[in-house]
Formats: sequence, C-alpha cells, structure tokens
Amino acid sequence: MGKGEGAVPLSRRGRRSSAAVGAGASPNRGAQAGCGHLALRFEVDARWEDDAAARLFEIGCLGVQPAGGLLAERLEARGDRLPLEAIFPPLGPGGEEGLRERARAALDGLGDEASCCRIVGVAELPPRDWLAEYRARAQPITTARFVFDPRDPDEPAEAAGLADAGDRALPPEGAGARQRHRLLLPAEQAFGTGSHPTTRLMVDLLEQRRLEGARLLDVGSGSGILCLVARRLGARAALGVEIDPCSSFVAARNAERNRLPLQLVCGTVACLGESARGGFELVAVNVLPHRIEGQEAAIAAALADGGELLLSGVLSEQRQEIEGRWRDLGLECVETAQREEWIALVLARRKSDAL
Ligand SMILES: C[S@@+](CC[C@H](N)C(=O)[O-])C[C@H]1O[C@@H](n2cnc3c(N)ncnc32)[C@H](O)[C@@H]1O
Repeated sequence: MGKGEGAVPLSRRGRRSSAAVGAGASPNRGAQAGCGHLALRFEVDARWEDDAAARLFEIGCLGVQPAGGLLAERLEARGDRLPLEAIFPPLGPGGEEGLRERARAALDGLGDEASCCRIVGVAELPPRDWLAEYRARAQPITTARFVFDPRDPDEPAEAAGLADAGDRALPPEGAGARQRHRLLLPAEQAFGTGSHPTTRLMVDLLEQRRLEGARLLDVGSGSGILCLVARRLGARAALGVEIDPCSSFVAARNAERNRLPLQLVCGTVACLGESARGGFELVAVNVLPHRIEGQEAAIAAALADGGELLLSGVLSEQRQEIEGRWRDLGLECVETAQREEWIALVLARRKSDAL
C-alpha cells in the first residue's frame, strides 16, 4: 500500500501505491543478507496499479517500485502503462518460475482488468540486507496519542532521541497536550508499523473513541498494532484474528514487548464460532475487501449492541460497493475518513436491525 515505508522504498511523484500494504507489512520477509531478492518486472495501466500491487503483496511481495526510473515518469505522463518491479524474497517456492506462476495467478484476480497488466520477466537482484537497511532509516511515527517506535528493540531508547519511560509513555509535547504512549513495533514480518495510511486511519479512529472497558475484535491483526493501541487506551480485552502464522507470532512478541496482554487466534473469524456473537463493542477490520469476502456476516455478528465496526483497506473508488455490501448486513456508514487514496468507514447497526 505505500511508499518509503517498508523494505523497498517506492515512490512515484506524490503518489502512494498499494505497495504500502506490503511496506508496512513485511520488511524482513527473507531479508537475510547473502542471497539475491527477485524482481518481478511488470507493466500495468496506471488505474490498476494499486490493485495489482496489493495482490502481489498478498503473495509475499516486499515492495513495488518503478522499473526504469525516468522512463516510468515519461510513460506516466503519457497516461500509458507503468513499468514497475515488485520485489520478492529469495528462495521462494519454485524459484523464478514458481514466482512467475504465483504472480500470474494473483494478477488474474484482477478479472477483466487483467489485460491491463503484463508480466515482463523475473530477475535476481544483487544481495542486500533489506531489514537492516529498513531499520536503519525507519523513524518513529507520531499520532495524536502514540509514538510507534520501529527501532531495533536492542538499541537503547536514547539513540533515537526517545525517552524510555517505564510505562512507555512519552512526555507531553506542549502545555495542555495529552501524553503520548510509546509502542515498540520493530520492523518484522508482519503488516502494521503504523506508517501505512490504512493503519493510520484505523489508529485515528481508535484514538477518537472511548475505549475504557471495551472489547475489541481485530480481524487481520498483523503486527497487533490496533489491539495494542486499544489496550493501551483502556480496552478491557483485544482479540486479534490473523490468517498468517508469522504475523500472529510477531503480534504475540509485540504484546510481550509492550507488556499488554492480547488474545491472538491464527485463522479467520470463522474460527471463533458462536462464542464471538455480540461479544465486541468495537470490531476493527483493515483488510482488502476481497480477502474477507464471505466472512462479512460472521464479522458483523460479532458486534455488540450499539457497537461500531471500523473498516479500512478500502480504496476511495470502492466506497459505494463496500458500503452496499455491509448495508445488506444491516450496517450503515455513520462516518468516513480518508488518507491519500484509502478510506475508512465507521459502520453501525441500523436502529431497526438492532438485536
Ligand atoms: C492490511 S494488514 C492490517 C494489519 C493491522 N491490523 C493494521 O491495521 O496495520 C491485513 C492483515 O490481514 C490478514 N488477513 C487477510 N485476510 C484475512 C482474513 N480473511 N482473516 C484474518 N486475517 C486476514 C493479512 O495476513 C494481514 O496481516
């Protein structure tokens, strides 16, 4: 989903692409030095760039960047196809041919738009330690009430100019300012460093709510960032559901690092069964819409009376379709927010549909 965030800086004139999903996601997948990452070169109609990048992130892409530098800029200016390269960890299943096949299958998911996207080739890049490079340049991310600290956990806090308060709270920035809490979220193999616009949208929404005593269900918990934010702001419990085992493991480690107990389940929301029904005052879902297709009813059912569902991972042009999908389940959009091309929706049960 976004530029300059993860292992591979990606940026093209003032735009962020879906690549940011990956950047926040997995700066260290296969990030060890000594073996070359793979660059999948492809061309895509500019309109489908974000969707294509998002799909590549789902098969393990670490970042997307322009291929061909100035050439890319010229092509974009003409409104032509963009030559891009998606970076993948070395040693993936099936080597270069395996990657090509997985990419083809992922991009086929674009449906009718697939013809707007063409794989050009796969090349091995010279060895680099992406994780070390990412951590070296990663900066703390400040929100209204938090500082997300991406540094190497072994580095002393002073090195990054951060106070290391025992409760991980930073001093107020100015008179009357509220304290900011520090969360340790070192770059790992999980989405959710705080830098991606969709994560920021979700954090903003959580910060604006009264969370004391609330129970949060976070579908697609990644690094656990939203669960940790909610717990730090007083939520009584936070349950993260995540299909990627590596991300679940990272979230567990982050919970320990920040001394904030979380409940973590590796799987989809279906794993929770009936026990989840009506059990959460807040449900957070920052997942691309097609990844939760068919699971929306189970997610909606987890909302307690008067609860709110915070939804992101949605591009602004998908708004109508996505709102319609949740409206069919009795949830109405009561608030929206936008950062770059990404939006977040706050959904609440229609009064007449309340249980
Ligand atoms: C965009 S990340 C969000 C991470 C974090 N919650 C945040 O806001 O930064 C989406 C996460 O959802 C997970 N995911 C995708 N589909 C899922 C599903 N159907 N059920 C649970 N997790 C899912 C992905 O593995 C990924 O870690």
